[in-house]
Amino acid sequence: MPELVPPHGAEEIRPLLVSKADRAEELKHAQDLPKIPLTSREVSDVFMLGMGAYTPLAGFMGLDDWRGVCSDMKLANGVFWPIPITLSTTEEIANDLSIGEEIALCDGESGEILATMSVGEKYTIDKDFECSNVYRTTDPAHPGVQKVMEQGAVNLGGPVKVISEGEYPEKYTDLYLRPEESRALFRDKGWSRVAAFQTRNPMHRSHEHLAKIAVEVTDGVFIHQVLGALKPGDIPAEVRTAAIQAMIDNYFREDTVVQAGYPIEMRYAGPREALLHALIRQNFGCSHLIVGRDHAGVGDYYGPFDAHNIFDELWDGALVTQPLKIDITFFCKKCYGMATGKTCPHDPEHHISVSGTQQREMLENNVEIPPEFSRPEVVEILRKYYASLK
Ligand code: ADX
Repeated sequence: MPELVPPHGAEEIRPLLVSKADRAEELKHAQDLPKIPLTSREVSDVFMLGMGAYTPLAGFMGLDDWRGVCSDMKLANGVFWPIPITLSTTEEIANDLSIGEEIALCDGESGEILATMSVGEKYTIDKDFECSNVYRTTDPAHPGVQKVMEQGAVNLGGPVKVISEGEYPEKYTDLYLRPEESRALFRDKGWSRVAAFQTRNPMHRSHEHLAKIAVEVTDGVFIHQVLGALKPGDIPAEVRTAAIQAMIDNYFREDTVVQAGYPIEMRYAGPREALLHALIRQNFGCSHLIVGRDHAGVGDYYGPFDAHNIFDELWDGALVTQPLKIDITFFCKKCYGMATGKTCPHDPEHHISVSGTQQREMLENNVEIPPEFSRPEVVEILRKYYASLK
């Protein structure tokens, strides 16, 4: 039987979550350790490490990994990695910590202890260097850059043991699949070629079209949405989930699609983040990642196809999971159907396109959304959500 793609840079998925049996004891031990508050991005990275989505990482990166990742997209051992996964703190806190000391990593908002870490390294970084390499800008108005600029002055690297998955497993029950679970599910279904569709939005018809193109050429599509923190004004995960489910129930064959979510926090790093999304999906067992227009972008920082082109810069063997690069998709009144920049010969005046902002305004003002743009079952759920905000 054909196999799923292997985990990234390791023989097996490496979840850093401590076994259920040992968790209470590790938590007890953690209570007496110095407590380090984490930002929401760091919290999401702890959950990603916990579930094994960041295989083969053993914890937060040290200086050599950080530098190699920023400049060459390589960990110190040569394994491909496109975005630093780092933890920072203030100089004051760092000064009190010694190398080899154990610390407790806590959610900076709730105070909950999430993990323990052995401090392997304390180091400072050139934030401009990180941002210009990873985000291609040092503009503090970029939401990903802003978080790097605001982080503490000292990075702490070292192996992590995760104790908690926060509220995700209870809040998202069936949706919260860990890489070993998605792999088991795909195997049960007899899938080996699986396309991941990364999204942080309720799906409109362009998204649906991208997912269906993928279904045509693989065994099935893994609609995999961001459950971590987004930008203010983005639609909450539970509403998106319901909207996506309405689309699946009404417009997909059940045996070709799985919906799930994962706890990453978007960095909006465009092309570099597309690579991270592909790497993570390899760990979840996906052979392909759908990469459309301005994948993981924000504002005008990236060109519409920068996230396609960056895959061509990778060396042989960097990633097993491959991009399914798809052009801009839309409904064309002349083609009378969904089309892409690659398939439609007609002028843009014949295309129906509604931006996210326009859709939001239309929903808020009860203006009808054309069915060529979004499925009515999806619109219905979004309309109720916007009405509830008033
Ligand atoms: S994100 O991770 O890229 O920020 P988003 O939900 O906005 O998520 O988009 C999901 C995927 O659909 C991405 O691969 C994006 O490039 C693609 N996409 C969204 N809208 C279009 C479109 N109209 N044409 C082509 N690709 C699109």
